[in-house]
Amino acid sequence: MSVAKFFDEMSYGPAPEADTEARQWLARHKGRFGHFINGGFVDPVSGTTFDTFEPATGALLAKVAIGGREDVNAAVTAARKAQDPWAKLPGHARARHLYALARLIQRHARLIAVVEALDNGKPIRETRDIDIPLAARHFYHHAGWAQLQETEFADQVPVGVVGQVIPWNFPFLMLAWKVAPALALGNTVILKPAEFTSLTALLFAELAAAAGLPPGVLNIVTGEGETGALIVEHEDIDKIAFTGSTEVGRLIREKTAGSGKSLTLELGGKSPFIVFDDADIDGAVEGVVDAIWFNQGQVCCAGSRLLVQEGVAPLFHERLARRMGTLRVGHPLDKAIDMAAIVAPVQLQRIEGLVAKGVAEGASLHQPKIELPKGGSFYPPTLLTNVQPTSVVATEEIFGPVAVSMTFRTPEEAIQLANHSRYGLAASVWSETIGLALHVAARLAAGVVWVNATNLFDASSGFGGKRESGFGREGGKEGCYEYLKPKAWTGRKLRAEQSPPVLKPVAGDFAIPALDRTAKLFIGGKQARPDGNYSRPVLSPKGKAIGEVGEGNRKDIRNAVAAAGAASAWSSATAHNRAQILYYIAENLSGRAAEFADRIAAMTGATAAHAKAEVDASITRLFSYGAWADKYEGVVHQPPLRGVALAMPEPQGVVGVVCPPEAPLLGLVSLVAPLIAMGNRVIAVPSEPHPLAATDFYSVLETSDVPAGVINIVTGSVIDLAKTLAAHNDVDAVWAFGSAELSTLVEKLSVGNLKRTFVDYGKAIDWMDRSAAEGLAFLRRAVDVKNIWIPYGE
Ligand code: NAI
Repeated sequence: MSVAKFFDEMSYGPAPEADTEARQWLARHKGRFGHFINGGFVDPVSGTTFDTFEPATGALLAKVAIGGREDVNAAVTAARKAQDPWAKLPGHARARHLYALARLIQRHARLIAVVEALDNGKPIRETRDIDIPLAARHFYHHAGWAQLQETEFADQVPVGVVGQVIPWNFPFLMLAWKVAPALALGNTVILKPAEFTSLTALLFAELAAAAGLPPGVLNIVTGEGETGALIVEHEDIDKIAFTGSTEVGRLIREKTAGSGKSLTLELGGKSPFIVFDDADIDGAVEGVVDAIWFNQGQVCCAGSRLLVQEGVAPLFHERLARRMGTLRVGHPLDKAIDMAAIVAPVQLQRIEGLVAKGVAEGASLHQPKIELPKGGSFYPPTLLTNVQPTSVVATEEIFGPVAVSMTFRTPEEAIQLANHSRYGLAASVWSETIGLALHVAARLAAGVVWVNATNLFDASSGFGGKRESGFGREGGKEGCYEYLKPKAWTGRKLRAEQSPPVLKPVAGDFAIPALDRTAKLFIGGKQARPDGNYSRPVLSPKGKAIGEVGEGNRKDIRNAVAAAGAASAWSSATAHNRAQILYYIAENLSGRAAEFADRIAAMTGATAAHAKAEVDASITRLFSYGAWADKYEGVVHQPPLRGVALAMPEPQGVVGVVCPPEAPLLGLVSLVAPLIAMGNRVIAVPSEPHPLAATDFYSVLETSDVPAGVINIVTGSVIDLAKTLAAHNDVDAVWAFGSAELSTLVEKLSVGNLKRTFVDYGKAIDWMDRSAAEGLAFLRRAVDVKNIWIPYGE
């Protein structure tokens, strides 16, 4: 090209990054990789491999091992053997290892960045400036948590051996998000990278071992979905951490149901990007570039649904279209490009297919006239306007550089449209009016909200979703808890089988207003007859009938869910208000303590002293959660930018509570009180054999100013009612304590809307023991943390 032509065009020429070192590393391995198990590379037992390609050229990069059952077994054995010694290291020693890994990433940053760009197809500018530095930051940050573990997490122990399955969009960063907290807190790991992008994980393991990470602490088993499934189903793994598609996440929820494995799922999204008419329009246009064209839009939290206020929509779309024309699509190793290759031909076809569907549904297609490189998988930056909120492109995750745009008139409409999604991962709000931006941020169903910004991440601030975007958080202190469990819960035993009630439900007599009448259900603040008009007898330990309760059915649960749904004002009530009501319940219960103790003794056969102790503990517990209501608060993170991230605990919404058979009053109070303290509304199913304490309890609720629908009580068969709660799409979480069978069915049936579950696998908690049955372990499960990022300054 002549100098004159350069002056004419004023465009950048290619500025390629050298790939010599990366190619030498591949050559040293002769282009073929085994698994990394117990500190070294091993060939797969089956000897089979698959090919991994360079997305930008289609050229073969390397052959990678396919993990079979024996390989996974070997990795789990190594991780199991290493776990206890690793956990027993002083926190400081583990901190030193994590620190060494952070330094290692920084020392080899360029090599990792180039291998990542070659293998994934993303621009070197991004791997060099974002993926790899953020990964190093993650290890530094978690070196800190290891150092502080003995003081900050004194009441916790590591989960154990962890299986981690990650996607291809941020191969190295996702590894860091998974591995750093797991290792920092004393777990050992078997990680399976995505099949398109295994190389940086193998490079990291090799470097880590050379730097002295003990064998077995980190194992990498490569392979496709089947290998992932072998890890998920392995019996000797204590926890699965997964990032990927909602479809596979759901499968994993189902496969692990009842296994006792702890689970975190970070799944898909269709995140709204809301532009108000008072936004800095040029800033918002640049925001879209980062929201949807960063990493070719292959970002789970990509701002893929633009919602633009009607008045500014024409101007905004015009400027956006102009900006699209200046984006450069090129080779990943060219330092002067904005977008590079899509990860694989199959992904490219998926994007093309979805865009064609959108156009067929009437959307207008905008793509700049820019030249795409030949040979590999490339797709231009794309904008679809005139999109209907219900169309496929507005509801499905495209996972490509495609933004869809819709308009709205009022903030209320923006919130409604934004929340009109089965996902709830992230959101961006653009407005120069801080009051408006925060009002909207607080009401969005999302785990992360960026105000006048997008795609900001930091190890200090938790990341994760709501709804079908999954559960659990990565990063922040809340992310650490995903790799820990309360010390007080270790060594619990399976509870003894309860003998089932001898008598079957009979037609109820709900008309007699006598003292010993059949207890009704409590729905929407009112006593309600069970839909089926059946009741069930309640027996004393000697088999004598001591009362009757309503036999709730599916319809009763549905009514209770509707009542709880309508009580949403509770979730926005002040914490002070909620605290007062909890104290008031406690006060009214203590006024009737003797009566409750008698009832417990009659139902369970407990001694008078024991029954009194249970009532006293229930009163104390209500006071504790009244105390916590306005003290379990968020924190203000100060990530490395000019700004803050507000980590706010939010109620999960409508929660089903299936109470344990034992401790009929204390069990109920221990589960319901933390939930309502945090602003949830509950449908409680009382102890099946001893339900009368709960039905007596609603007369306490009636005199305690508890708003209608905040606590609903449905008696009956625990298993039948739990089934309806777990499968109900308007229930956001289910807490179920009882048999192993109950835990399994609750976890299995929760897959529909991927509700959060908290179950005990049949292992009883000692409800009288405050350290096991009260406090932060329950409060943490009663909320989701939403991180609202507010950058400030010019
Ligand atoms: P995927 O969910 O199938 O793969 C993610 C990881 O899970 C990979 O390591 C894969 O090998 C593994 N895996 C697949 N099946 C498994 C199973 N049955 N058990 C255990 N592990 C299993 O995602 P894929 O196929 O790579 O992409 C398909 C679509 O998923 C994309 O087009 C995109 O829409 C979405 N996706 C979303 C991601 C996100 O972070 N939200 C990440 C990756 C993909």
